[in-house]
Amino acid sequence: MRITIRDIQGIKENGKRIAMLTAYDYPTARIIDEAGIPLILVGDSLGQVVLGYDSTIPVTMDEMLHHLKAVTRGAKNSLVVADLPFMSYQINIEQALINASRCIKEGLAHAVKLEGGKELVPTIKKLITSGIPVFGHIGLKPQSINVTGGYQIQGQNNIEATELLDDAKALEEAGVSGIILELIPSKLAKKITESISIPTIGIGAGPYCDGQIQVWHDILGLYPNFVPKHTRQFVDLQSIINKALTNYIENVKNGQFPNDSEFIE
Ligand code: KIV
Repeated sequence: MRITIRDIQGIKENGKRIAMLTAYDYPTARIIDEAGIPLILVGDSLGQVVLGYDSTIPVTMDEMLHHLKAVTRGAKNSLVVADLPFMSYQINIEQALINASRCIKEGLAHAVKLEGGKELVPTIKKLITSGIPVFGHIGLKPQSINVTGGYQIQGQNNIEATELLDDAKALEEAGVSGIILELIPSKLAKKITESISIPTIGIGAGPYCDGQIQVWHDILGLYPNFVPKHTRQFVDLQSIINKALTNYIENVKNGQFPNDSEFIE
């Protein structure tokens, strides 16, 4: 049965933790779905880990929709959240509505996510009243690295921490279904989590959030270009794949592949 926004809220209310993961294609979505992960994000991190860009900034709506459609074909039970890419929702509310509705109607996502705080409240209200569930994303906002100057920890001084807490409250008030807290001190994440009734999902925000989100390639050791401190590599798939490929090459070269049972006379 498909996980709903209500189920996600229920996980927080029951004091349980939410595991969320990114996915960008059909086979990954199928594996994640079958593992019982309730929330999948088709993140704009696809820019780096799948498309080979330097940041999330170049990701387009067409690229997002292409990957989103594959993920929603693979996820039968998980609730799929689509990231709205850079400049697909900042220009004006009408454009945000058009792009978010493409994610729902064409991409078959169940919700969208956008980066920002109180400045997005009118946009978020319009999306929600139009029937589109929204997740917030505060703390480090990778779409804003040209303004912030990089991927630094956010909310380290009192002014920034207060602003982030206010943003979280404003997003809750606007009706979001959950908030991603990226790269903020764990004490601040705890305070935010205790101050709002909707789930917080942390990435680099410590253990006191209602859930955790990680990038698929990071936890499986598939993106060696950059390994964030907040990641745990649960398996080193790149090494396993390398061994398999060496084996395959060797077997082709020495004529052991294909063997008698692997072809038709
Ligand atoms: O794009 C993404 O993968 C994200 C997560 C890191 C939260 O926004």
